[in-house]
Amino acid sequence: MRLDKLISSQGKYSRSDVKKLIKQGLVVVDGRKATTSDEKVDPNSAEVLVCGKPFIYKEHIYIMLNKPQGVVSATDDRVHKTVIDLVPSELKRDGLFPAGRLDADTEGFVLITDDGDFAHKILSPKNHVEKTYIAEIAEPISEDDIKLLESGIVLKDGFECLPAKIKPISEKIIEIKICEGKYHQIKRMLGAVGNKVVSLKRVKIGGLPLDVDLKPGFCREITQEEMGEICT
Ligand code: URA
Repeated sequence: MRLDKLISSQGKYSRSDVKKLIKQGLVVVDGRKATTSDEKVDPNSAEVLVCGKPFIYKEHIYIMLNKPQGVVSATDDRVHKTVIDLVPSELKRDGLFPAGRLDADTEGFVLITDDGDFAHKILSPKNHVEKTYIAEIAEPISEDDIKLLESGIVLKDGFECLPAKIKPISEKIIEIKICEGKYHQIKRMLGAVGNKVVSLKRVKIGGLPLDVDLKPGFCREITQEEMGEICT
């Protein structure tokens, strides 16, 4: 990979920044000062120092965001703040997108990445990666409604949902797990049993819970170990 491409791919420096750093002698590859931006380096084996610090190359990045209400799950929007706008500069790089959308009024865990294959893996219902939500609902839920939702409810437009898992937490608060991500799915599922979602928060993707220390609007990188908890 070209040296300037390699360094700029991690987001912190642009290609022209890299050019300037090379001119200033601040980029060292395998123990010698780099002289041109277009020299080829192996991203997995070259030892690169930038401004005296080891440069760590990661092919992809995986970010946990605690999305607040009012922010849209898009990469750009002319009116609203997007989930990508909330990514701090040290984690930003080209090609970031949310792996699965939450409605503007839904809060909680959004996984942001530049890895399309991984996003597909966690979003495809075939892979059964559960998304766990806490829903506040307008009416108490009955045992019959739980059975309907757990056996695979049919929405008003005829869409047959996969079986959900429901755990009542209190009279009007439930935990609901689904492996699909159709538009307004949980709101429509509850609507199909004559109920209404008052508020919704995603608290887990696969086996990885939203970090309770992550305040709404904040992001952090997901560790390698945590990645293993999302799906196997
Ligand atoms: N289901 C919904 O209805 N909304 C969301 O944001 C996520 C799941």
